[in-house]
Amino acid sequence: MVRLRPVAPRALALAVAVTALGLGGCRLDMQDQPKYEPYEASKFFPDGTSARPIPPGTVARSELHEDQPYYTGFDADDQLVRTIPIPVTRQVLERGRFTYNAFCSPCHDRAGTGLGMIVRRGFKQPPTYHQDRLRQEPDGYFFDVITNGFGQMPSYAAQIPVEDRWAAVAYVRALQLSQHARLAQLPAEDREKAEEAGPLPGESTDLTQLPGSGAEGPADAVGHPAAPPYPEAGEASEGEH
Ligand code: HEC
Repeated sequence: MVRLRPVAPRALALAVAVTALGLGGCRLDMQDQPKYEPYEASKFFPDGTSARPIPPGTVARSELHEDQPYYTGFDADDQLVRTIPIPVTRQVLERGRFTYNAFCSPCHDRAGTGLGMIVRRGFKQPPTYHQDRLRQEPDGYFFDVITNGFGQMPSYAAQIPVEDRWAAVAYVRALQLSQHARLAQLPAEDREKAEEAGPLPGESTDLTQLPGSGAEGPADAVGHPAAPPYPEAGEASEGEH
């Protein structure tokens, strides 16, 4: 009968360590773990796709837009907000001028009469801001037009952040006021200057009257000269070939 020699505890420990080391070579690499590749089909989900739809009501981080008037221009009763929901400071107006000149003036021109360069090249002419209908629209209306577009005008929501959109609205209001202020609204110094200068050619001689508010001409006549004809494509470069 063969008697097995009892294994010394130290030898046993060594054997376990060597085996463990050897097994380490058979580990499952992370890159090989069971997982779905993007857009991989799935047998698990009934719709057969591994990409799961976002559950309704999910809000992305920092995208919780609770302040509805600020983000949409409409209040809780779905009415357009009457006044800009941020304090209109000089800084906001300057930001608005920057935004307006960059994004709106190509069509609406810098004075807001609707004769921007793109329009001179054939794009649909937008209405002037200097007309009663647009003077009377609430501030939220302008925000909504910028956000969602209007007729042929595209939405600028992707290019202009919400705060800059309100700043642009403030600047459009300033443009409107610039063409439609009562003499009495001016500071004394400017009023004197205006009175000295007298009316512009074609303007009512009664400086207490608002321009564009009477029977003296179309509401959008703000003294902007008609757009000069732009040369037809090709015409300008003729003779250079
Ligand atoms: C690509 C040219 C273009 C740009 C840029 C543009 N608009 Fe317009 N906008 C138009 C046109 C064209 C209309 C008239 C649309 C129509 O009637 O189909 C219009 C209409 C409007 C109206 C009048 C809506 C009404 O009730 O008649 C407002 C207000 C307005 N735009 C504001 C802006 C502001 C503010 C910006 C800049 C953030 C801007 N637009 C940029 C082309 C433009």
